[in-house]
Amino acid sequence: MIELQVLTPDDWGRWRELRLAALAEAPYAFGSTLADWQGDGDREERWRARLSIPDSYNVLAELGGRPAGMVSGVLQPRDGTVELISLWVGEQARGQGVGDRLVRAVVRWAVGRGAEAVRLAVTPGNAHALALYRRHGFEDTGQLGDEMPDGQRERLLVKRLTAG
Ligand SMILES: CC(C)(COP(=O)(O)OP(=O)(O)OC[C@H]1O[C@@H](n2cnc3c(N)ncnc32)[C@H](O)[C@@H]1OP(=O)(O)O)[C@@H](O)C(=O)NCCC(=O)NCCS
Repeated sequence: MIELQVLTPDDWGRWRELRLAALAEAPYAFGSTLADWQGDGDREERWRARLSIPDSYNVLAELGGRPAGMVSGVLQPRDGTVELISLWVGEQARGQGVGDRLVRAVVRWAVGRGAEAVRLAVTPGNAHALALYRRHGFEDTGQLGDEMPDGQRERLLVKRLTAG
């Protein structure tokens, strides 16, 4: 059974554990690196600040009572869209609907916040993530995002929530 929990800054330890696992396991998928969040970068106030981003929604998924995945939505004040970031499902939990639940949760939250769209960035070679996003109605904007550590440029995808 998949259960979702919405985290507060006091849950920083649980977020930290999964996020470090995500950065170690899938460095190709994220703009941040494991090195950014280790050593001097690995401080309670920094993790708390990450979970205190204004208008953010930070979710942890458990599968069979064990931490299995994570995602965030962040409402962008400049254009009223929500950015979906930090999606990760642990290897043991893949292919069991956890990614679907996490994406759906952010989309629902975005609708509740009155957002016009959900946006995200994905590396072109990340076929599993692209398939998941397409299944949820995300479309390629044709725009390129940041350069990743391996030199590839991210692709920007959008899911519109209202007509027009
Ligand atoms: C993308 C991701 C969230 C998908 O999670 P998920 O819940 O397994 O998603 P799906 O259920 O849609 O996976 C569909 C299939 O692909 C397989 N799969 C998914 N991701 C895989 C991966 N990285 N490597 C190998 N197989 C993978 C699943 O096992 C499943 O196979 P099945 O249908 O034979 O059972 C997860 O792979 C992940 O965390 N990847 C690394 C981080 C990442 O890419 N995040 C997105 C950044 S934009």
